[in-house]
Amino acid sequence: MTDQITIRTAVDDDVPQLAELYNHYIRTSPATFDTEPHSVEAKRAWFSKYSDSGPYRVMVAVEPDGRIVGHSYSSALYPKAAYDSSVATSVYLLPGEVRRGLGTRLWHALYDELVKVDDLHQLFALITLPNDASVAMTERVGYTLSGVWKECGRKFGQYWDVGIWQRPLRP
Ligand SMILES: CC(C)(COP(=O)(O)OP(=O)(O)OC[C@H]1O[C@@H](n2cnc3c(N)ncnc32)[C@H](O)[C@@H]1OP(=O)(O)O)[C@@H](O)C(=O)NCCC(=O)NCCS
Repeated sequence: MTDQITIRTAVDDDVPQLAELYNHYIRTSPATFDTEPHSVEAKRAWFSKYSDSGPYRVMVAVEPDGRIVGHSYSSALYPKAAYDSSVATSVYLLPGEVRRGLGTRLWHALYDELVKVDDLHQLFALITLPNDASVAMTERVGYTLSGVWKECGRKFGQYWDVGIWQRPLRP
C-alpha cells in the first residue's frame, strides 16, 4: 500500500538498492541514456555529490521493511556555471510500483526540498520519447514542453528524441 511508504532523504546505506533500481532501467529502457550498469562503487561516487541541503538532492520511497521502491533526484542541467540556477529532476520507481501516485509523491517531496534553495530558478525534465507515464506525471506537476531534441541519443541500436519540459521553481 502506498500509504505505508515513507519518503525521506536518501542516505549512504541506500546506495546498493539505488544502484539496483537504476540499473534495471539502464539495461532495459531508453529512459536513461546511461548504457552500462553502475557498480555500487560508481553509484557511491555519484551519491557523494549529493547532500541534505543545496540544489542536488535524492529522495527515496521506502516500505516498512526497508525496501526502496522508488527515488527522485535533481541533477545539474549542464556542466557550465551559468546553468547552476537550473536543475533537472528525475523520478524512477521499481517496475511493479507504477501508476498509483508514488511518482507524484516523490516529485513533491523533492520539490519541497528544492523550493528552500534560494539560488534555484527553473526545473527541467528531460524525457526520452515516447514515455506516456513520465510525460503525464511531469505535466501533472506543472511542467510544460519547451522543445524536442530530435534523435539526440542512440541506445539499443536506434536514435531517440528527448523532450524538454520545464517549470519555474516558484511560479
Ligand atoms: C514515470 C513515473 C515516475 C511516473 O510515476 P507513477 O507513480 O507511475 O505516476 P503517478 O501514478 O504519480 O501518475 C501521475 C499522473 O500520470 C498519469 N499516468 C501514469 N502512468 C501513465 C501512463 N502509463 N499513461 C498515461 N498516463 C499515466 C496518471 O494517471 C496521473 O495523472 P492524473 O493524476 O491526472 O490521473 C513511473 O511510471 C516510472 O518510474 N516509470 C519508469 C521509469 C521512468 O520512465 N522514469 C522517468 C524517466 S524520464
